[in-house]
Amino acid sequence: MQMFRNLALASTVFTLSLAPVQAQTAASETYTPSVGQSGKDVVWVPTHQDLVDRMLAMANVNENDYVIDLGSGDGRTVISVAKLGARAHGIEYNPDLVALSQRNAQAAGVADRATFVEGDIFESDFSGASVITLFLLPELNERLRPILLNMKPGTRVVSNSFDMGDWKADGHVRVEGDCKSWCQAYKWVIPAKVAGEWTVGDGKLSLSQQYQMLSGILTIDGAAHPISDAKVEGTAISFLANGTRYTGSINGEQISGTTASGANWTANRSAG
Ligand SMILES: C[S@@+](CC[C@H](N)C(=O)[O-])C[C@H]1O[C@@H](n2cnc3c(N)ncnc32)[C@H](O)[C@@H]1O
Repeated sequence: MQMFRNLALASTVFTLSLAPVQAQTAASETYTPSVGQSGKDVVWVPTHQDLVDRMLAMANVNENDYVIDLGSGDGRTVISVAKLGARAHGIEYNPDLVALSQRNAQAAGVADRATFVEGDIFESDFSGASVITLFLLPELNERLRPILLNMKPGTRVVSNSFDMGDWKADGHVRVEGDCKSWCQAYKWVIPAKVAGEWTVGDGKLSLSQQYQMLSGILTIDGAAHPISDAKVEGTAISFLANGTRYTGSINGEQISGTTASGANWTANRSAG
């Protein structure tokens, strides 16, 4: 990561000293970015195509998805999504990279599904995405974390190389072969918010939540059973209580599902 930051510093000096030359080149159709060139909050380093493909596979991107790449660089992730038949959008601060991405999308024949906008990710609305991709820095990921956690449950987030602090990943991949640096990625699935009190028949379920991890107590027939191995993935909930595995689907104020023995169970969020 230090290399990532050093690259940023070196490129700032380089960029300042060559500013007029770069301005000329940038205006042309032959603009070629250089790896490590400065960006608003992070330098441009492209994700290796092998990792792009693995990230999209890890996020199960399909033609119903709308993928937004935060800091979209030369557009390779957005264009790769469009080639899969899905819609994708890139938000990129550098206008030259935006124009380059648009040319690349045209050349790939996917400009109808791959769009780009010049903008600051911290001032943009990306709430409509079903998948978010990023390759930023740990502190930028953590700045985005509360916004991401407010997205629709089930939204997938995939990050090249950098994690989300104490929000543990739901998945991880590493590519080898041609990829020599920045070759791993993490995935998270935005969890539904389930913390609080629920009634389960005559009993109750009391849940505490930290990101996708749950703890709590299931009280049935007056006996309190701590829950364990408890998790929310999107709108799917699973926990173990009193030796029984409960799985279910969260739909707003109701959870419905089955136990491992096939019995149906329903929980309703308690008023107040
Ligand atoms: C490490 S590169 C990743 C590019 C691309 N996502 C990829 O994986 O190939 C980060 C990109 O974020 C852009 N960027 C930096 N700060 C930004 C900001 N605040 N808003 C939008 N883009 C930003 C940079 O210009 C750069 O293109």
